[in-house]
Amino acid sequence: MSDLPAILGGAAVRPEGPPGWPLPDGDIRRALAQLAESGDWGRYEAQHCESLRKEIATRHQRNHVLLTSSGTAAVELALRGLGVGQGDEVILAAYDFKANFTNVAMLGATPVLVEIREDDGQIDLERIPGAISEMSKAILVSHLHGGTVDMAWVTEMARQRGIAVIEDACQMPLAVVQGQAAGSWGDVGVLSFGGSKLLTAGRGGAIVTDRDDISQRVSLYNQRGNLAYPLSEMQAAVLLPQLESLPERRAKRAEAVAHLRECLSQRSALIAFAPSKSPQTDPDYYKLGFWYSSANCGHLSRERFCEAMRAEGIPVDPGFRALHKIHARRRFRVTGTLETADRADESLVVLHHPLLLEGPNGTNQFVQALDKVQRHATMIANR
Ligand SMILES: Cc1ncc(COP(=O)(O)O)c(C=O)c1O
Repeated sequence: MSDLPAILGGAAVRPEGPPGWPLPDGDIRRALAQLAESGDWGRYEAQHCESLRKEIATRHQRNHVLLTSSGTAAVELALRGLGVGQGDEVILAAYDFKANFTNVAMLGATPVLVEIREDDGQIDLERIPGAISEMSKAILVSHLHGGTVDMAWVTEMARQRGIAVIEDACQMPLAVVQGQAAGSWGDVGVLSFGGSKLLTAGRGGAIVTDRDDISQRVSLYNQRGNLAYPLSEMQAAVLLPQLESLPERRAKRAEAVAHLRECLSQRSALIAFAPSKSPQTDPDYYKLGFWYSSANCGHLSRERFCEAMRAEGIPVDPGFRALHKIHARRRFRVTGTLETADRADESLVVLHHPLLLEGPNGTNQFVQALDKVQRHATMIANR
């Protein structure tokens, strides 16, 4: 068999292509069949939404859960719940999901962008105090690409300064951060059930909070005779069984990531984000983040590298654009330099989670494809 990379006409490591998502699942099939039988699929709000709210509330040990139409909507509602508006500032990482910036700006507030860390790509905590001003209303922190943020530190610092915290756990629902469910640390936490997510209903999201005022404000905004940002019974019904399978899948993904980290050498084109240093932390991997070194890969561009890996059937993609690179300068404030966020904009790569459920087979395929692409990098670059 030809050892040429698939992008140059060789045989792909995974001829079947990248693994699909969601996986075929008997529990989901049964849930859908029951919905069809009961007619609940056509109702506005019935038992499944109520059960989902209860399950999420219990798992987060929070009083209020509001189901929403997406994670993006949940972030918007969380900001509204905190009363963020004109003249306020919201601190967030310069490398984060685009809609987090957009939501802040849309409410008339100013995003204040903070540097990220070299080792694990998460918001640099040491830079947060310097970003605080008298206009600071909230800090929005996301756990990204398998990394976690020290929420005990963030929440205590924010409490001392009288600033609210939104914890975006869209990428790791129900992972454990310092002994608590991700999303349960802040004044308000946010989840996503988007089509590619670890818990998926195609679309959807949730807000979790203990604060009655946030819950009331969000409900008032959302309730217009009917819900403006609803999650349907059908979505709730397919999410419920996934709550049960999530811990087992999380353990599998964590095992695969540990194996992957062992396999990557210093000379690899990819260096995985450093594992979390926080105690009692059990992250999850919607995407696993890597720094891409084109110097270790024949000076192949990151985009071309990702294309070559995808041609092998390995689901890797460039990361997000850094927020300061895609928005007009007048729309945000920055404190300090953003060198690592600049680097993320150019050289971050993410591996999509379904491969991590394939055990050693999946990780070996990843390593094999990486090796093949690296060995032929110059040839790929010149083609
Ligand atoms: C960190 C983060 N926050 C928010 C969202 C928004 O979620 P949704 O796609 O459900 O709108 C995403 C989606 O990928 C995300 O990664």
